[in-house]
Amino acid sequence: MPARVTCLSPFDEATVRGLFKGRHEVDVQLVPEPPCQDAVLKAVHEAHLVIADKRHKHRIDRRVLENMRNCQLIQQAAVGFDTIDHRAAAEYGIPVANAAGYNKESVADLTILMILNLLRHAAFLDRDLRKGGWDRTHSGHQLGDLTVGIVGLGNVGATVARRLTGFGSRVIFTDALPREVPGTQPVDLDTLLRQSDVVCIHTPLDVDTERLIDAEAIAKMKPTAVLINAARGPIVDEAALVAALREGRLGGAGLDVFETEPLPADSPLRSLENVFLSPHVGGNTFEAESFLLEVVGANLNRILDGEEPVNIVNGVTRVTAR
Ligand SMILES: NC(=O)c1ccc[n+]([C@@H]2O[C@H](COP(=O)([O-])OP(=O)(O)OC[C@H]3O[C@@H](n4cnc5c(N)ncnc54)[C@H](O)[C@@H]3O)[C@@H](O)[C@H]2O)c1
Repeated sequence: MPARVTCLSPFDEATVRGLFKGRHEVDVQLVPEPPCQDAVLKAVHEAHLVIADKRHKHRIDRRVLENMRNCQLIQQAAVGFDTIDHRAAAEYGIPVANAAGYNKESVADLTILMILNLLRHAAFLDRDLRKGGWDRTHSGHQLGDLTVGIVGLGNVGATVARRLTGFGSRVIFTDALPREVPGTQPVDLDTLLRQSDVVCIHTPLDVDTERLIDAEAIAKMKPTAVLINAARGPIVDEAALVAALREGRLGGAGLDVFETEPLPADSPLRSLENVFLSPHVGGNTFEAESFLLEVVGANLNRILDGEEPVNIVNGVTRVTAR
């Protein structure tokens, strides 16, 4: 009997089928554009494999999980898995995997782009010139002469760190786990916030990182420092960030992610000049996208081949799976 695969990501049937080409016969079920939680509930019911939503729109909450009778793997087609209740999935013995690291080079590139942009006011000068300006009074900073603090030295954070050591920057970091990248120095979060000229956030969003960068944390940062968030919006208290930027208590911010996405039309962030904004495109490159399908396909096939899947984020192994 062919395995049933339900795909909540915006892949067409041929793409999903292609993941198993020459290896396994599958029945593929797609769902309409979000929101359509009832269709999700129905589609996962008999599925053996579920590909979660790379756009982070269709949520896999307890109600959806309760409805999964046969699921052997929820494979997120992204790195962030905060729209999946992975703890509840563990209770049901359903392993949840992500596509760890597939886009680390792309997010690291965007992070460096945002840092340089803010240090040299590049987007601001571009906007000003297009409006007829010719302001040569602006001065900036050399990245290689600054201290950069990385919060979360995982796949993206370590890739950013390696790029920064090439610039000659002093790189300090904090992580919940012991981590090492040559030329970088571990410190506690407090020291990182106080010493850094640039603070980059690269942790997952979870119970212990929500609002990790709140008003109190921002108050510890240098008034000239810039904050980069290419991880998840709710890790930073957006109202506290806006207040600090407005009042000159922070030099600037580079944001690819927001508390509410899409960023509301009336968000005060849109009118601040010392902010660089992008619409959650950190991982969007042709190279990362084609690697994503390889990573997702390999893990789904591992299950059908009776092997242990990789990149499990909720601790469920084949032994503990239901
Ligand atoms: N903007 C985008 O398009 C985009 C793309 C990919 C990933 N992301 C986000 O970036 C995050 C990081 O991606 P990654 O691939 O580096 O993930 P990762 O899991 O490889 O690394 C995360 C690191 O954060 C550390 N960490 C966890 N909690 C922490 C805490 N409280 N304090 C300090 N460190 C902590 C972990 O130990 C780990 O080393 C993802 O979870 C995802 O939400 C965003």
